[in-house]
Amino acid sequence: MLFRKIDKNLKTKIDALGRWYYYMDFDGIKVRRDLRRDGAGGYNNWNNFLKFCFPDVKEKRILDVGCNAGIYDLEMAKMGASEVIGIDRDIRHALFAKDFFSRKLEKNFENVKFIKKNAREGLGDLGKFDFACLFCVIYHFEERIDFVMEELSKMTDTVVMQGNLIRLASPKYKNRIETKYAGTEGIKELLQRHGFKKIQIFDFGKYPKPVVIGER
Ligand SMILES: C[S@@+](CC[C@H](N)C(=O)[O-])C[C@H]1O[C@@H](n2cnc3c(N)ncnc32)[C@H](O)[C@@H]1O
Repeated sequence: MLFRKIDKNLKTKIDALGRWYYYMDFDGIKVRRDLRRDGAGGYNNWNNFLKFCFPDVKEKRILDVGCNAGIYDLEMAKMGASEVIGIDRDIRHALFAKDFFSRKLEKNFENVKFIKKNAREGLGDLGKFDFACLFCVIYHFEERIDFVMEELSKMTDTVVMQGNLIRLASPKYKNRIETKYAGTEGIKELLQRHGFKKIQIFDFGKYPKPVVIGER
């Protein structure tokens, strides 16, 4: 059996960032191995599903709210986006991943920016975007969901939202009013209420993360 030599410094840096949200492999240093076979998270989500539901990103300016480790933002930059801004209340994982993949791929991701921000308090003055992404995040804003949507509707004409049917069905979140926004019907209603009237739904059977795109 072949063993890959692990870069101990790299591992120390990765461990210092604490809990990762999805499975990642940084040159043999694997985080969230428990989610390795999860077809609906991280690169599995992107490669097998999400990227196929997307509007064309070429030359587009894109906002990603709740970007987490920002890997979809790096992918959108690779696909030709002119600028991608990822915001999250914790951007340490995103900054690490950007630095790691910049070195690994010898690609300057200077058009990908990460901003630490609590979206519940507002998205800030970031200008206009061709579209905004909210992947598995809207329900986190709880009673501030409509406030965040109002902010978004001033910033873009197109919102790409991914739901989470596992959350929708979970007894843990059953009695919370925001849980309906984890499912396609709730997302559709939310988008339309905020003026994104033209709706496209990508719901592929058993896949637990449907995508709803709303356009003005
Ligand atoms: C379920 S994860 C989804 C991550 C990523 N969008 C994806 O689909 O893989 C939710 C993300 O939203 C972020 N988040 C939750 N509440 C937030 C808030 N109030 N402001 C900014 N980010 C927030 C979390 O830090 C986390 O990274």
